[in-house]
Amino acid sequence: MHIILFGSPGVGKGTQAKLLSTKLGIPHISTGDILRQAVKEQTAIGKKANEIMSRGDLVPDDVMIEIIKERIGKSDCGKGFILDGYPRSDIQAIAFDKLLNQLGINNIILINITAKEDEIIKRINNRRACKVCGHIFILEDIKNLTKCPNCSAEKSFYLRDDDTKGVIKNRLKVFNLTTKPVFEHYKKQGKVISVNGMGTVEEVNRKIISALDSRS
Ligand code: AP5
Ligand code: MG
Repeated sequence: MHIILFGSPGVGKGTQAKLLSTKLGIPHISTGDILRQAVKEQTAIGKKANEIMSRGDLVPDDVMIEIIKERIGKSDCGKGFILDGYPRSDIQAIAFDKLLNQLGINNIILINITAKEDEIIKRINNRRACKVCGHIFILEDIKNLTKCPNCSAEKSFYLRDDDTKGVIKNRLKVFNLTTKPVFEHYKKQGKVISVNGMGTVEEVNRKIISALDSRS
């Protein structure tokens, strides 16, 4: 199965992608995670991306197109993948169609997760991640813990650099201006499933699985 998880910053793409990846046995590919790792390792791409990401703007299309080309060419993508955060502009969507065509993949499906803006902002404000394993948590669930429940690292919870008020506002603006057209791009091709992302993580996950089941 070849899936694009699509939706606003903070809607729950990463959370749902991890659950689907375990259920379907295909890799979760988050371009945000790939870039944050590159920033951490101070690679050439990381140095270029750092400032752009901390403003909440998009990293140039040509860089992202190359990253994805390399990543989905790896052997673990043989049975499929779950993309989280890509494609994020019309240019990326057109390049991705071309790549899928070259690879003979014709069953791509975009799952569009939606939620109200006040809920999205609440979710971003309450997000904490583990700086060692990258696992995402809801603040309420870890507030009395000192160790990460996923990897046992001590005092590793942090707020992402781009999860501050002004940057969140810019990320939402960029999503509305540049990323939303990607939804229309795939809708025209009849490749979209929309899922209401309001409700608990488990409820949203059940909705996604039943939407996928009814399509196959
Ligand atoms: P990226 O990392 O992709 O960030 P994003 O799209 O802004 O999305 P988030 O990771 O903030 O949200 P999410 O939807 O994954 O939500 P999550 O599951 O964490 O991109 C970061 C930056 O990298 C970009 O701004 C850009 O600069 C660059 N970049 C990346 N890809 C690029 C590309 N293709 N082109 C150019 N630049 C690119 O959930 C949020 C919180 O809510 C968590 O705490 C979670 O536990 C909680 N939660 C989830 N679901 C629920 C629920 N149902 N109920 C309650 N809480 C929930
Ligand atoms: Mg994410």
